Amino acid sequence: MKILVTGGAGYIGTHTLIELQKAGHETVVVDNLANSQKESLNRVSELLGGVEIPFYKVDIRDREGLNRVFQEHEFDACIHFAGLKAVGESVEKPLEYYENNMSGTFVLLDVMRKHNCKNIIFSSSATVYGDPAVIPITEDCPKGHCTNPYGQTKSMLEQVLIDIQKADPEWNVVLLRYFNPIGAHKSGRIGENPNGIPNNLMPYITQTAVGKRKELGVFGNDYDTPDGTGVRDYIHVVDLATAHVAALKAIADKKGLAIYNIGTGHGYSVLDVVHAFEKANNLKVPYVIKPRRAGDIATCFCDPTKAKIELGWEAKYGIEDMCRDSWNWQKNNPNGYEV
Ligand code: NAD
Ligand code: UFG
Repeated sequence: MKILVTGGAGYIGTHTLIELQKAGHETVVVDNLANSQKESLNRVSELLGGVEIPFYKVDIRDREGLNRVFQEHEFDACIHFAGLKAVGESVEKPLEYYENNMSGTFVLLDVMRKHNCKNIIFSSSATVYGDPAVIPITEDCPKGHCTNPYGQTKSMLEQVLIDIQKADPEWNVVLLRYFNPIGAHKSGRIGENPNGIPNNLMPYITQTAVGKRKELGVFGNDYDTPDGTGVRDYIHVVDLATAHVAALKAIADKKGLAIYNIGTGHGYSVLDVVHAFEKANNLKVPYVIKPRRAGDIATCFCDPTKAKIELGWEAKYGIEDMCRDSWNWQKNNPNGYEV
């Protein structure tokens, strides 16, 4: 298939481009580089043995810009990663987040419809479950209350896509609810490149290990979990990437609307991750216990059975692989893509 990848220069996008190309698909990237650098795509090309992926520095809110891309290419489907994703920043800048994520998706969907491309895979998140009613979380679990504007955009955009598909059954909409992506391509050439002080656990661990941060703050050790720290379903980003390739099957099968949890089904606590990282890489990560972080929940992990049955997809990598590959990326690229 020929696939438009919005946000393809970012963390998950770059890894997905590699798996799509390896599976024989043709890809085109649209990204405004708001949270990424062109260098990431140079590295993707290098990892693909020199294959150049067409890149357009276009903001998805720019209708004319997007139209031009669709005039130059006939797409079978779009994988829609483009969006702003920092939870804390979304609380401080709600309008910017709603505007970018909502308006951007509205323009994209309208341009897709105009060019008769009605197949989309959307990057959603476990955040739509709020504080989940059942663990492990199945896709039938009711959606919950999102505590921040970022999460609201995911939840609302899911609804927008559901309504569009209901109104026009020619659409095939796949909602992938990612759990916690970490890790990097095993080459260490591409990986996660957060701006400023990382919000997420793994980048904070790797930046502590590389000496950029003094110590990791563990946000709370009084949750109702085996060791008191928060439990999450960490998934290797390469497994997440292959889930997108598998999800194209739901489009080829003309499923209409399909929703999948994309996780491993295993929950690890913050301290489990710290210890796995230390063991996998034979180094120490200093940490201190801090108060709970506002909006956090105790436990979040999924039942990934539906994706296995319907898409034939399941995660291959374990926590050791995730810890090893995250560190391999960080130690070889202490300043991310800046050379
Ligand atoms: P990322 O920031 O690395 O990649 C997103 C890309 O979108 C960036 O390259 C950015 O420049 C681009 N972008 C943002 N707004 C744009 C716009 N208006 N026009 C064009 N390009 C734009 O993030 P990621 O971790 O690769 O996440 C990809 C998607 O997955 C996002 O939608 C994110 O919300 C979602 N997601 C991520 C996680 C996670 O933990 N990383 C979890 C669940 C869902
Ligand atoms: N944590 C720490 N110290 C840190 C950072 C995180 O102890 O410095 C803890 C958190 O309290 C939590 C766990 O590590 O218990 C994981 O936290 P992350 O910030 O890495 O991930 P979250 O589960 O909070 O959220 C992430 C993304 C969201 C997404 C969600 C579900 O940031 O965008 O996964 O997909 F919605």
